Amino acid sequence: RAGTSYRIASIPGDGIGVDVTVEARKVLDRAAASHGFSLSWTEFDWSCERYAKTGAMMPADGIERLSVFDGIFLGAVGFPGVPDHVSLWGLLIPVRRAFSQYVNLRPVRLLPGTTSALAGRGADELEMVIVRENSEGEYSELGGRHNRGLGNEFVLQESVFTRVGVERIIRYAFELAKTRTGRVCSATKSNGLIHSMPFWDEIFAEISAEYPDVHAEQCHVDALAARMVQAPDRLDVVVASNLFGDILSDLAAAVTGGLGMAPSGNINPTGELPSMFEAVHGSAPDIAGQGIANPVAQILAGAMLLDHLGETVAAQAVRAAVEKVLEEGAVQTPDLGGKSTTAELGSAVVAALS
Ligand code: NAI
Ligand code: MG
Repeated sequence: RAGTSYRIASIPGDGIGVDVTVEARKVLDRAAASHGFSLSWTEFDWSCERYAKTGAMMPADGIERLSVFDGIFLGAVGFPGVPDHVSLWGLLIPVRRAFSQYVNLRPVRLLPGTTSALAGRGADELEMVIVRENSEGEYSELGGRHNRGLGNEFVLQESVFTRVGVERIIRYAFELAKTRTGRVCSATKSNGLIHSMPFWDEIFAEISAEYPDVHAEQCHVDALAARMVQAPDRLDVVVASNLFGDILSDLAAAVTGGLGMAPSGNINPTGELPSMFEAVHGSAPDIAGQGIANPVAQILAGAMLLDHLGETVAAQAVRAAVEKVLEEGAVQTPDLGGKSTTAELGSAVVAALS
C-alpha cells in the first residue's frame, strides 16, 4: 500500500545471522522504495553475546516489546559457549509460542544457477512447501532427568499433541493446497510412535474429508525423506509435526541449493500478533565473521515478510531479482562455488532490482 510505513523488529542474533541480515535489509529497503512503501526498522541486540554479558538472551519484557511490530526479522541465534537449548529456549521458542506462530512455512524451490543433488531437474519438477507445526509436538519441556550420575540414570522427553494444535496446522496445509496444486502429503510415523502419530493420522483423515478437491496422502517420514530426494515431483504441500518438519526442511534445503538458499516464516495466521521471518540455517560459527555467508536465504525470508505485509508485488520483485543474479552466476558465495562475499551478493540483488 503506497505510503505505508511498516514497523519491523530486526534481531540479527549471532554469527552469520548478523552478516546476512544486513544484506537482506539492503534488498528490502530498495524493494520498498521502488514500490512506494517504507520499512521502519528497530534493531535489537538480543543474542548469545548479550547472554554472556547479562545472563539473558533478551530482556524480561522482550515479548511485550516485540508485540507492537508489524513483523519480526530474525537472523539466527546460537553460538559456541552458550548451550543450544539456552539460546533456543531463551529467545526463539518463547517468541514462536507467545505470538502463537503455530505455522512454520518453508518453501523449497530448485533455484537457477545452483548445483543440486537433483541436478538435471528443472524448477518445475521441484517446488514444494513444508508446513511445520511450530508450537508443540516433540519440542516440549515436559520430562526430566532422573538418578543423575547413577548407573540407572535415565531421562524422559515427552511429546505434546493437542487436538486444537494438530487440527489447525493440518487445516492450514489444506487451505494452502487449494491455492497451489491441490496436493497434501502428511508426514507420519504411526508404526513407531504408537500414541502421537495415530492421533495425528486420525485428525488428518477427518480434515481431508472436509476437502474433497484436495488430494491427500500420508507417508512415513523416513520413506518421505527418501522420496524427497528420489521422486520429489508429486510432492507439493507437506505437513509435518515440529521435529519431522525441522528435519525434512533441512533435507529439502540440502537437496536443492543448500542451507544458504532456504527461507522460513513463523506465522500467526490470524495476524493479531506479529509473525517472524528467518532463514532455515543457523549462525554457522564455522564461517562467521568472514563475510562469505550466502545471504539468499535471509533475502528470501525478507520476501516472505513482504508477502505477509501484503506487499506481494515487491515480494515477487525480490524473488525475481534473486533468480536473475543466480541465473547469471557471476556473483556467487563460496557455498555456490564462487568467490564473492556476502555484501557483493547482496549488492548484486539490489542492482538487479533497479
Ligand atoms: P548451521 O545452519 O548454522 O550450519 C550448518 C552448515 O551449513 C555449516 O557448515 C555452515 O557453514 C553452512 N551454512 C549455513 N548457512 C549458510 C549460509 N548462509 N551460507 C553458507 N553456508 C552456510 O547449523 P549448525 O552448525 O547446526 O548450528 C550452528 C548454530 O546455529 C547452533 O548454535 C544452532 O543452535 C544454531 N541454529 C539456530 C537456528 C535459528 O536461529 N533458527 C537454526 C539452526 C541452528
Ligand atoms: Mg532446523
